[in-house]
Amino acid sequence: MAILLYVTITLACTVYVHAQSKYCCTPQQWESVNMLIDGRDTAGNATKPLLTQGYEQVSVDGVNHKIASLSTLTTSSGFNITVQVIQLYDKGIMYTVEDGECKHSALPAWTPRCVPDDAKLLTKYSLGQGSVHVDVDVYSVTVGPNTVFLNIASADCTPIYQTAYGSAAGVSALSMKTYSNFTLGIKDPIVFNVPSICNNATYLQKLPHLHPLH
Ligand SMILES: *[C@@H]1O[C@H](CO)[C@@H](O)[C@H](O)[C@H]1NC(C)=O
Ligand SMILES: *[C@@H]1O[C@H](CO)[C@@H](O)[C@H](O)[C@H]1NC(C)=O
Ligand SMILES: *[C@@H]1O[C@H](CO)[C@@H](O)[C@H](O)[C@H]1NC(C)=O
Ligand SMILES: *[C@@H]1O[C@H](CO)[C@@H](O)[C@H](O)[C@H]1NC(C)=O
Repeated sequence: MAILLYVTITLACTVYVHAQSKYCCTPQQWESVNMLIDGRDTAGNATKPLLTQGYEQVSVDGVNHKIASLSTLTTSSGFNITVQVIQLYDKGIMYTVEDGECKHSALPAWTPRCVPDDAKLLTKYSLGQGSVHVDVDVYSVTVGPNTVFLNIASADCTPIYQTAYGSAAGVSALSMKTYSNFTLGIKDPIVFNVPSICNNATYLQKLPHLHPLH
């Protein structure tokens, strides 16, 4: 179970960037349904990497400094995993509910979700064509031992796609996230309610992560 927890935690975390962005910042409040694919070499010499795929429903509230996500994932080793993560930045606490257990860990102060200043603008491309096309900027960002490629809509900084690769705790991983059904605002703030099971949350040491914006 340790590996599964690790996988899902890395997918759910964020990186912290400065408020005055050199590039752009995502809209203040938004929700999306993200498709996740994560492959990692768990044995070092495994013939096939462990594949985890599924969906993540995410709500980002930059006004009240909260992020919630609910991920439903399946691994190639035959596990189904549901993970709920609630990050309450003004309280400095993050709850992770997995497998009927709630864990809590500490969070630093909120910072706006922006393309980090140390990112490099690599290239630009366009999706679709004619009047329905979307112009996309591709940035690379180094996050500890990991490299992340952020694909962001040029017009309004909407996240489109992220790829991350790197390693943590001796495990190498490649991880992809496609943002879909992006909407502005928070439809129902109930997503930020802390489940009662978390009254007795145990402490979880924060683990390294791969994805920078969310
Ligand atoms: C990986 O290599 C080690 C040492 O050579 C071996 O003992 C182990 O069985 C291998 N694991 C797999 C999954 O092949
Ligand atoms: C995982 O979920 C899939 C699709 O819902 C289901 O077919 C499969 O039996 C589940 N596997 C386990 C181990 O529960
Ligand atoms: C995403 O949006 C499409 C089109 O509106 C809709 O059919 C689909 O059910 C939505 N998917 C999710 C997972 O919300
Ligand atoms: C929560 O912890 C308290 C104190 O350790 C204990 O009395 C209580 O039974 C626990 N509740 C649950 C739901 O586990």
